[in-house]
Amino acid sequence: MSERSIAAYDVSPRVKRYDADMELMHPNRSKMVQIALEVLPFPRTAGLRAIDLGIGTGYFTERFLNNFPNSRVLGIDGAQAMIELAKARLTSLASRVQFVIGDFRQLQELAPGAGSVDVVFSAYALHHLNRADKETVLREVVELLVPGGWFVNADLIVAGSPELESRLQEIRVTGMWNARVALTPDSSIRHQRAVSWLISKRTSVINHSPWLRI
Ligand SMILES: C[S@@+](CC[C@H](N)C(=O)[O-])C[C@H]1O[C@@H](n2cnc3c(N)ncnc32)[C@H](O)[C@@H]1O
Repeated sequence: MSERSIAAYDVSPRVKRYDADMELMHPNRSKMVQIALEVLPFPRTAGLRAIDLGIGTGYFTERFLNNFPNSRVLGIDGAQAMIELAKARLTSLASRVQFVIGDFRQLQELAPGAGSVDVVFSAYALHHLNRADKETVLREVVELLVPGGWFVNADLIVAGSPELESRLQEIRVTGMWNARVALTPDSSIRHQRAVSWLISKRTSVINHSPWLRI
C-alpha cells in the first residue's frame, strides 16, 4: 500500500498540479495547518528541532518555519518528485531544512537518535499506512521525541459515527463550493472532476447537498 502511495507521488508531470488540486479537494487545508500550529505550546522564538513526515511539496514545513523562525525541519518523503517541488518552494528557507528521501515506516533509519526531536508533524500522509504500520510509526515517533515533545498529525479521518462523517463531508464540500468563485476556466474543469469524483464515491454528504446532484 505504502510503496504504491509513494510511487503515485513520484511522477513529476502528475504532481506539478498537486498544490492546486489540494486547494480544490481540501479547501480547509490552510485552516487545518493553522490549527495544528496553534496547538503547539511553544513560544514563537523557540529553536525547535522538527520532522515533517511526508513533507510532500513542503506546504506544512513552510508554515511551520515561518511560525517558528528559529527552528529547523527534517523533511522525509519517499517521492523524489515531491521533494523537488518542496525544494523549490523552500528556497528562501533552505538553510533551515534538510531533506531525506525514504520510507517513513523505517523512521529509525532516517531520523536522528531517540529523544532528539521536539516536534514531529505530518499532514495528509499517514492515512496511506495500514493500521499496523501506523502503530509502528507512532511508536517510533514517541521514541524520537524529547520529554514534553509534541506529535501533530493533520490528516483525513473517518469519523466515529455516520452523522459526524456526514457533517465533516458537508464542511468539506461547502468549502469546495465556496471556492468555485475564484476558479479559472482551467481549474473550473478540475473542480467539476473533483465534484464528480466525490459523487462517484457516494459520500454520505451527497444525500444532504443538492448542489452535488448536477
Ligand atoms: C498527500 S501527500 C501530503 C504531502 C504534504 N504533507 C501536504 O500536506 O500536502 C502524501 C505524501 O506522503 C508521501 N508518502 C506516503 N507514504 C509514504 C511513506 N511510507 N514514506 C514516505 N513518504 C510517504 C508521498 O510521497 C506524498 O508526498
